[in-house]
Amino acid sequence: MQIVILKNSVEVAEYGANIFIEQLQAKPDSVLGLATGSTPMSLYRQLINANQAGEVSFVKVKSFNLDEYLGLDGSHPQSYRYFMNEQLFDHIDIDKSQTFVPPGDAQDPIEACERYENQIIEAGGIDIQLLGIGRNGHIGFNEPSSGLMSRTRVKTLTKATIDDNARFFSEGEYQPHLSITMGIGTILDAKKVVLLATGDNKADAIKATVEGALSASCPASALQLHRNAVLVLDEAAASKLSDCDFYRHIEVENQKLRASLAKS
Ligand code: F6R
Repeated sequence: MQIVILKNSVEVAEYGANIFIEQLQAKPDSVLGLATGSTPMSLYRQLINANQAGEVSFVKVKSFNLDEYLGLDGSHPQSYRYFMNEQLFDHIDIDKSQTFVPPGDAQDPIEACERYENQIIEAGGIDIQLLGIGRNGHIGFNEPSSGLMSRTRVKTLTKATIDDNARFFSEGEYQPHLSITMGIGTILDAKKVVLLATGDNKADAIKATVEGALSASCPASALQLHRNAVLVLDEAAASKLSDCDFYRHIEVENQKLRASLAKS
């Protein structure tokens, strides 16, 4: 795993957005894996700006979101489809018919999960997957104890996740306890993975992800198995890591290497 430690959430969003911009410039028909939640919102704003400034185009892009609440259709303001339209798709030149979010209103959710996996395969697989991380180490809605090779499926949310996400629902509003989520195995199949984490409430999860054992107790620790995963952290999210100096040193060496390769 590549660990990048930056000062604050602004720098994290900028760094993450640049990875996506470079990906789209190198491969305009990229298949993007996308996430919802608070963390990626400013990255999406930067992608919107880059698109409106003509730096990148999404015309040939396909996208697959990590997860959706089971029981909410896409017109529900708390659904992840609605979030993606509002935060990104409505403001860029993407063909919305090529944006996929697991169907929260599926009549047959089990069949819908299989179909989602097949749609990803038919698209040629995910080139780059964006992730946030839950306080409990979840990625997508793969809660602790999720199988490390799991595929897209229905998952029950933990009380911790329900409580964390209650902030998006108004008082008395129905909040689903089930989701459809890409599995950890589905995420690991992405060619590149970019996980963003900001704030000290993510510090324990990041510690377990980077320096803990590979374990279903911390689903994000499965990224230790990935060949091309980058974790972009602010200082608060990195604050419990023991080896920060080493990770910073690696980054300096990486930059030197990139600069010398660029010159040659
Ligand atoms: C969202 C998702 C979740 C979030 C995680 C962090 O699609 O899959 O794993 O990334 O819950 O959420 P925030 O960014 O709101 O802290």
